[in-house]
Amino acid sequence: MSACHVVLVTGASGLIGSEVAGYFASQGHTVHGVDNNQRAVFFGPQGDTRWNQQRLERERPSYRHHELDIRDRQGVLDLVADVRPTVVVHAAAQPSHDRAAAIPFDDFDTNAVGTLNFLEAARRTCPESPFVLMSTNKVYGDGPNRIPLIEKATRWDYAVPQYAHGIPETFSIDQSLHSLFGASKVAADVMVQEYGRYFGLPTCCLRGGCLTGPNHSGVELHGFLSYLVRCNLEGREYKVYGYKGKQVRDNIHSLDVARFIHAFADAPRSGEVYNLGGGKANSCSILEAFALVEQISGQRQRHSHVETNRIGDHICYYSDLRKMRDHYPGWDITVGLEQTIVQIVEAWQHKLVS
Ligand SMILES: NC(=O)c1ccc[n+]([C@@H]2O[C@H](COP(=O)([O-])OP(=O)(O)OC[C@H]3O[C@@H](n4cnc5c(N)ncnc54)[C@H](O)[C@@H]3O)[C@@H](O)[C@H]2O)c1
Repeated sequence: MSACHVVLVTGASGLIGSEVAGYFASQGHTVHGVDNNQRAVFFGPQGDTRWNQQRLERERPSYRHHELDIRDRQGVLDLVADVRPTVVVHAAAQPSHDRAAAIPFDDFDTNAVGTLNFLEAARRTCPESPFVLMSTNKVYGDGPNRIPLIEKATRWDYAVPQYAHGIPETFSIDQSLHSLFGASKVAADVMVQEYGRYFGLPTCCLRGGCLTGPNHSGVELHGFLSYLVRCNLEGREYKVYGYKGKQVRDNIHSLDVARFIHAFADAPRSGEVYNLGGGKANSCSILEAFALVEQISGQRQRHSHVETNRIGDHICYYSDLRKMRDHYPGWDITVGLEQTIVQIVEAWQHKLVS
């Protein structure tokens, strides 16, 4: 990016927000972050993200934090008018599909209405600024579970060549079971597309697979690799819900998410949608993740199996990255799955002793 940017990042104390904030700050751009540590309200003390906010403030002295609830519409309108960002990265959310069922108002008000607050604020103040929403693969609901699968020794996989590269952005988001979280994210996703198509804002939705990295405050209900590593290091039992532990997720390091956002901000398009994950090369089943983590940490993974799967949970999901690579040929994955796990292990080892 040549120009000096003013980047507004929501959810700045979370996994993605903090990575994006640190990434742009390290390149000399001005970064404003919004977060009110709502993750600790959603998930209790283990979801607390203050440590990450403090890390960011310590490591990036130019970073400016705004303690604001994204549901506070007037607060959002005032902040955007004041900051006048040249890039908006919206990563604040209630991120768990299981948790949403217990807190439907908080979930929808945060995920859907919070997104509308920022979109409208951007339209009024900085309609030319690239606007990136962290969406999710849960917008496809359980549709991917209807794809014929084959069972392999340690994982499920797609049985039809049509999905050999993974799930494309053209996959239907309609008429499937989403969870309330998936539905509130669909509302946000479609609204972000609409502000692109209807109003011409340079928006995009990044439909994340498993976004991960050392700065995740992983809890049982969200952040599977981070939580799994924590269980391994603490000798805690990890509960596998259904699908024989062979359910497949594709994992992408938060740095590669930040790098894609950078590429989009450099050459924005309008109303775009990308499936953003590690792709097949960085996918693993839970059983495979156990083996990888054991190999890296040297500790045995304790686990138990619950027969019933989580409602609507994907059996096999990996993203087709071809559209991203086609639109942004300068971007690709730079941190593979093993290296990512090494970093997560090291981060937890450090956090658990300090
Ligand atoms: N991590 C993943 O595997 C994954 C996968 C797909 C999509 N996503 C999406 O990416 C985005 C970022 O995910 P993450 O893993 O960084 O989540 P995270 O929970 O680590 O970070 C989200 C941050 O938003 C903040 N927040 C939540 N509600 C808020 C509110 N009302 N006001 C102000 N701040 C609020 C939280 O305190 C938290 O720090 C989310 O939109 C999520 O749905 C994540």
